[in-house]
Amino acid sequence: MTQARVARPREGRFSPARCARSIYETLDAHEGDVQAAQGELLAILGRLARQPGLLETGLPRRSAHGTEGSWLYWDGEINILSARFPAGVEVPVHDHGTWEIVGAYEGELEYKAFKRLDDGSREGYAELAVTEDRVLGAGEFSMVPPPPYDIHGFRPRNGDMSLIGVIHGTYGEERCYFDPDRKSYVRQSQWAWGSSQGR
Ligand SMILES: [Fe+2]
Repeated sequence: MTQARVARPREGRFSPARCARSIYETLDAHEGDVQAAQGELLAILGRLARQPGLLETGLPRRSAHGTEGSWLYWDGEINILSARFPAGVEVPVHDHGTWEIVGAYEGELEYKAFKRLDDGSREGYAELAVTEDRVLGAGEFSMVPPPPYDIHGFRPRNGDMSLIGVIHGTYGEERCYFDPDRKSYVRQSQWAWGSSQGR
């Protein structure tokens, strides 16, 4: 009788699950204060991004803005995802309803984060200020803080880009999509923009 060949996880590999455990340990060490833990969390994600083959290991995930979305790790609280963004795509400025860490796994992204200056009392009006405007190369990550500062937009640079993200919980079913120049926003389903792109 021949013995079935079983693929086994490689010993010592910094897998998405190990990454998640490191995230929990770091958050615990900072009593859940994600912003205080920020520097360590970005370094942990940088380590994950150095692991080869991540894009082939996830389970299918519907991506709101990208293509070929996958879950690399999911437990409902700390969730690690990947998505591909073809050259030429411009992801509009949006919020999330949760904190998020994003960065490039392959390729580069032009990344902008924002904070909101108005008090949110006027529906459809939002005054945003840029808090971050930079290029994230492979292995570089940025944190979107908890609401109400959970706002960013980005686009791939110099070709296609694959992103790794960590989210806390789940995205809001409805999100705000901002036009910073017009100081306006619309609330819409997280799937509406992708549908408008024919996805
Ligand atoms: Fe986002």
